[in-house]
Amino acid sequence: MGLLDGKVAIVTGAGHGIGRGHAMELAKHGARVVVNDLGGSVSGEGVGRDADLTVDIITARGGEAVANYENVADFEGAGRMVAQAVDTWGRLDILVNNAGIVRDATIVKMSESDFDAVINVHLKGTWAPCKHAATHWTERFKATGEPVGGRIINTTSGAGLTGNFGQSNYAPAKAAIASLTQTLSLELFRMGVTVNCVGPAAATRITGTMPGAPAVIEADDVPDGEWNRMDPAVSSPLVAWLASAEADHVTGQVIRAVAENIIWMKPWADGPTLNNGGKRWDAAKLGMQLATDVFGTRAPGLRY
Ligand SMILES: NC(=O)c1ccc[n+]([C@@H]2O[C@H](COP(=O)([O-])OP(=O)(O)OC[C@H]3O[C@@H](n4cnc5c(N)ncnc54)[C@H](O)[C@@H]3O)[C@@H](O)[C@H]2O)c1
Repeated sequence: MGLLDGKVAIVTGAGHGIGRGHAMELAKHGARVVVNDLGGSVSGEGVGRDADLTVDIITARGGEAVANYENVADFEGAGRMVAQAVDTWGRLDILVNNAGIVRDATIVKMSESDFDAVINVHLKGTWAPCKHAATHWTERFKATGEPVGGRIINTTSGAGLTGNFGQSNYAPAKAAIASLTQTLSLELFRMGVTVNCVGPAAATRITGTMPGAPAVIEADDVPDGEWNRMDPAVSSPLVAWLASAEADHVTGQVIRAVAENIIWMKPWADGPTLNNGGKRWDAAKLGMQLATDVFGTRAPGLRY
């Protein structure tokens, strides 16, 4: 009995890299997979049939998969992708939002179109499939009154969670995906849908754009059972588990899977707090108060 037997999944951007690893892993555990990929370049130019490559790998290994070539950031296209899962296998259970591009540059050198394209593919390209999947699950929930057991697994990045030089488009897009995850986890839990976010790391086309990056590898280059810390499928077992019924109590979480480590990310949390005692703050005094009582960069001196 596979962990995901009977489940129907979509993995976006699964023609290459981390998405291909996720699609192979979900199929290995028994899911039927819609392999989505627009098939463009790493910076989002052009289109192609790269989804077919992953479908062929999955079917050669005895799994079930179909290709989808939609642009996830196109609202209607994302709707057609969800409809394809439902038309092909009668339902959707798991949505893995993974598609992405990069166009790195420091802000002075970054064009407006490089900002818009990256925000669009990552943020709208996550929101739009979520919207169509949530609509499908709402219809099922209304029809049966039973929790639908849906799963959304989004993809963030260490760059988004901590900031990264030269990525003033990519980093905020990935941070927004973490925030979208938290928000949707609140909205969809009532009907039994969990929403989590994974932060992977691997030697893919995206990291291949960085100076001194290791050679690009694909998930099927790594033989079964062999450990490679830059394998695009390093985070895929975590994704498969989050997609399973076993993880029905886990939602709104951000978890990085980097080489040997699975790291639970603590969300933004309140730190030291100044209280104005019900009086308006005085900007001229605020610097000293923050330095002594929040940042700890000045000694407070004798107070009592
Ligand atoms: N590689 C890393 O170390 C790393 C680290 C953190 C996060 N990520 C994230 O992992 C995800 C996968 O990236 P990757 O490293 O495997 O790169 P990749 O280029 O190998 O894979 C991304 C895939 O998304 C597809 N794609 C791009 N735009 C699309 C669109 N509009 N619609 C449908 N498909 C589209 C591409 O064709 C490509 O096959 C991305 O979201 C990326 O931000 C990667």
